[in-house]
Amino acid sequence: MVDMSDDFSAPENGFQAIRFDGRCLELLDQRVLPVRESWLSVDHVDGVIDAIADLVVRGAPAIGITAAYGAVIAAHQRVGDIRAWRGDLNRLESARPTAVNLSWAIARMRRVMESADGPDPEVLLAEARAIHREDIAANRTMAELGSEQIDAGSGVLTHCNTGSLATGGIGTALGVIMAAARKGRTTAIYADETRPWLQGSRLTAWELARAGIEARVIVEGAAAALMAAGRVQWVITGSDRIAANGDVVNKIGTYSLAVLARQHGARFMVVAPTSTVDPLMASGDQVAIEQRDPSEIWRAAGMQNAPDGFLAWNPVFDVTPAELVDCIVTEQGVFTPPYSFRMAEKGRG
Ligand code: MRU
Repeated sequence: MVDMSDDFSAPENGFQAIRFDGRCLELLDQRVLPVRESWLSVDHVDGVIDAIADLVVRGAPAIGITAAYGAVIAAHQRVGDIRAWRGDLNRLESARPTAVNLSWAIARMRRVMESADGPDPEVLLAEARAIHREDIAANRTMAELGSEQIDAGSGVLTHCNTGSLATGGIGTALGVIMAAARKGRTTAIYADETRPWLQGSRLTAWELARAGIEARVIVEGAAAALMAAGRVQWVITGSDRIAANGDVVNKIGTYSLAVLARQHGARFMVVAPTSTVDPLMASGDQVAIEQRDPSEIWRAAGMQNAPDGFLAWNPVFDVTPAELVDCIVTEQGVFTPPYSFRMAEKGRG
């Protein structure tokens, strides 16, 4: 029998924004934070697909874990019908295009069912929980490895949200930053607000406040002035997909920060588990960049910011060339240029 209990809730695992009891998924609704802490219950696969597409749950590792649990829910719905289950997995995989963790998790779920007649919820649950558990462990290792790179007295700037909300555990970049803060290595922490969806000011600020770590939010346009003032020694971000050559796809605005960091002598660290590495993408320009509805710009966070219907260009990720990245921290170690991630190929399905 598979252990159905929630054994992920130890404090050292971060807080759990994704809970699954074997049948029903509970997701902390990231669309309404920090105003409300409200949970969405989902017990059918279409609900899981909508939750990923609508950003109820977001962040590359978190959507991979959610999709894996979605595959278990689909198996309960499609008893004995592997064809229909496979169709559900294709739809889960297409819920968002850019983060490779989503297709990586779905590939793992497909692989465990390769030789079966029908989807077996118990086998799938064990695999989904393994994906979740491995992410928690990777987060912890990366927090330790990454925080060791940071010299005492460093100002740190981060972008988007990369903490417990975005992962299975304590986070990627935010896990490193929190560990560095606890070791007394940071002098100041800055969170970029991250337009238009405000993952930085709504979610990262909420996580830092919850952890009791002092930090400041800045508007994106303040990053250059902040660096020119010598207040940033490290820019630290996560990633949605890292190409074989080390190009980093991440939240729109990451590339600008990397350029600014190079101009001002700050270092640029990317923190991501190997599930984010895509050895099949030779370089970042091959990655599909998600374009979202312009209304996310017109009415960001419920405010009217531009006339409705005004034309907009709203790519939600960009590509930071590998030459601007000083190090990439994964659970397998700290990588420095020149990058070559072909070694992760064995993990693909
Ligand atoms: O559109 P989002 O909010 O899902 O984008 C998330 C990011 O870009 C994160 O930086 C990335 O997933 C790394 S999170 C551990």
